[in-house]
Amino acid sequence: MKILITGGAGYIGSHTIIDILENTEHEVISIDNYSNSSPATFDRIREITGKTVRNYNIDLTDYKSLRDDFFARESDLDGVIHFAALKAVGESVEKPVMYYHNNLNSLINLLKCVEKFDIRHFIFSSSCTVYGNAEAQPVTEKTPTQQPESPYGYTKLVGENILNDFSKTKEGFNSLSLRYFNPVGAHESGLNGELPKGRPNNLVPVVTQFAAGWLNNLWVHGNDYETRDGTAIRDYIHVSDIAHAHVLAMEYLNENYGQFQYDVFNLGTGNGVTVLEVLKAFENKSGLTLDYQIGPRRAGDVEMIYADNSKAKTMLEWNPTRSIQDAMASAWKWQKRLDQIKRDDMAHHE
Ligand code: NAD
Ligand code: WQD
Repeated sequence: MKILITGGAGYIGSHTIIDILENTEHEVISIDNYSNSSPATFDRIREITGKTVRNYNIDLTDYKSLRDDFFARESDLDGVIHFAALKAVGESVEKPVMYYHNNLNSLINLLKCVEKFDIRHFIFSSSCTVYGNAEAQPVTEKTPTQQPESPYGYTKLVGENILNDFSKTKEGFNSLSLRYFNPVGAHESGLNGELPKGRPNNLVPVVTQFAAGWLNNLWVHGNDYETRDGTAIRDYIHVSDIAHAHVLAMEYLNENYGQFQYDVFNLGTGNGVTVLEVLKAFENKSGLTLDYQIGPRRAGDVEMIYADNSKAKTMLEWNPTRSIQDAMASAWKWQKRLDQIKRDDMAHHE
């Protein structure tokens, strides 16, 4: 198969490219405008896999360029895995129009091209954020979705609807929305991981950057939740397990071509873990002690969410194997590598 990965220079996209190159014969091509990443990702992919991936630096919101500079040239594509999106929840509240514009127009332009160039398969990166503050845990794919807390969340919920509606009308096409829970960790080599531009918002990069001295404080956002230690519960899923699910999902779309049009899968471990348990796993793997502080709850946070992943396990034959300890060990390995790169750069400039 020949597969387009949008957002291939990003965190989950790059790990998925690595998995595809390591485990399949598929050809991959990326589109990424580096709005939250850099071309260095493709050097890291080459270092790990020995393979060179072509990237088109195209903004997916630019339909003409997407159609003429990409799809018209790469017309024999079998499928698209659409990762590219802006993903900072807080920023989306500050800049809603930017988020709706980027995330929705990117998806719409891709689907126009899928229509025009008759592409068979499509996978959309969705999120557990579509469940909002669900009453019963764990959440299954049948748990009703809720009005999201943020414009970012809306782009995922609306994105799913757009893809579902499109899939119903298009002959010879099938698609999936994959709802990721909290992706964490790095490639086990420590050579590729998460590097958001600016100050990170997500817990694990905050922890590793704090431990490396890049950040001055580590706040635990609230310890008065109704949970076993008072801190919020999430389902932290290793990025390499998420990546592999895309390989299986593409196989599933291909094998069941003509059998169904659209479906949804949860991608989580099935285990709920508290913030303090994440910090302990990090301390355990790094041998360091984290001098964290307890702060107030963060606006928009839910108390608890974790996945029922039995649908993906059964139908995709997906078996997430990596633990939170594995995730923290690899994330820390990656952070130490970044630290070394930063030191080398500084020495170079002195
Ligand atoms: P990321 O920011 O690391 O990667 C996204 C990539 O898309 C970036 O490299 C960025 O430069 C690119 N991009 C964004 N807008 C673009 C555009 N208009 N044209 C071309 N390229 C564009 O994010 P990630 O963590 O890898 O997330 C991938 C997907 O998974 C996103 O859709 C995100 O919403 C979704 N998701 C992420 C998480 C998470 O916690 N990381 C959880 C659930 C869902
Ligand atoms: C996890 C827990 C924080 C930072 C977000 C999006 C969601 C999905 C995944 C994209 C929470 C706590 C965090 C810190 C802390 N993304 N925390 N101190 O909010 O569960 O999910 O990413 O789709 O849509 O909302 O992830 O990593 O930000 O937070 O105590 O410095 O860690 O309060 O309980 P979240 P997170």
